[in-house]
Amino acid sequence: MDFEDLFVCPECGDTLTAAWCCPSCPRAFGQPDGIPDLRTAVDSRTDGVREFYEHSPFPAYPPRDSVEWLRARAERSELALMLDRAIPGDAAIVEMGCGTGQMSLYLARAGRRVIGVDLARESLRLATAAARRFRVDGMVRFIQSDLHQPGLRNGAFDVVYSSGVLHHTPDPRASFARVAQLARPGGIIVLGVYNTLARLPARLRRLAARLSGFRLVPFDPVLRTRSDEPARREAWLRDQYQHPEEHCHTLAEVQRWFAENRVEYLRAYPSAVLGDEPGSLFARAADNWRPEGWLAQLGWIFTLGHEGGLFFTVGRRA
Ligand SMILES: C[S@@+](CC[C@H](N)C(=O)[O-])C[C@H]1O[C@@H](n2cnc3c(N)ncnc32)[C@H](O)[C@@H]1O
Ligand SMILES: [Zn+2]
Repeated sequence: MDFEDLFVCPECGDTLTAAWCCPSCPRAFGQPDGIPDLRTAVDSRTDGVREFYEHSPFPAYPPRDSVEWLRARAERSELALMLDRAIPGDAAIVEMGCGTGQMSLYLARAGRRVIGVDLARESLRLATAAARRFRVDGMVRFIQSDLHQPGLRNGAFDVVYSSGVLHHTPDPRASFARVAQLARPGGIIVLGVYNTLARLPARLRRLAARLSGFRLVPFDPVLRTRSDEPARREAWLRDQYQHPEEHCHTLAEVQRWFAENRVEYLRAYPSAVLGDEPGSLFARAADNWRPEGWLAQLGWIFTLGHEGGLFFTVGRRA
């Protein structure tokens, strides 16, 4: 399927013309700076989240970057390496809530077709400029859209990836139901959201930050590494401690969302099976025993808590 076939009118689902017009509605969507704006009416809470990220795009870029920097940075993350290994070279991927686009660009550089979707135009501007700088602009398209009415063809994607996004939407469960429809039957969904237990340390840091008027944010290792990168430091500080819309979720809750939407649970990352060796990210876990899942999540307070408490759940659409 070509890129053009992946986009549809967010209102009626008809195929859009090359000039981003819907022949049925009829409606024309603008593309200021070459970034299509497929947003339709959005609710005020979602628009508050958009404004929040327009002010400081997340996660932003350091002053000097390159495609080698992108690769080295991504590959410090075991998850990125596992994703890269598991996704075939001809896959169609959508990253929902791509922010400034680092993961989209990392996955596109291996020749895959990637669509990065975000609410915030400022983030997409940085993403588009980076795609040109890193010379992967042929394989990636960035569009401004709301995941509730994304303007993408249902059932068209081999992989739907969304990290750090659904917990910033007013109703994460409903958001998941919408996003899951984008995966083709047999397609993979990789979802990263804040974990209820692993987020506790960040909530305590937030309390200290609020009490000190944001002069003190104790024990945040990410902030410390960003002392000479003001844009990325501010993006992290706001995202972690000043967000207007934040929810946390347990593994069991996400597994329920999967079941409600006919998505087979494959595994969690980090693994929710104690002592499990990380194999393929898209392989079914050896076990799915709820008490063990709870114990694993208790452990995540210590292993994930210092960096915000994000965990991933991987599933396959029936
Ligand atoms: C914490 S950032 C994560 C960015 C990126 N996924 C990452 O991991 O670095 C959350 C992103 O989700 C986007 N977002 C939030 N709600 C959205 C929605 N309803 N539709 C599309 N994007 C949304 C925000 O604009 C923001 O860029
Ligand atoms: Zn239409």
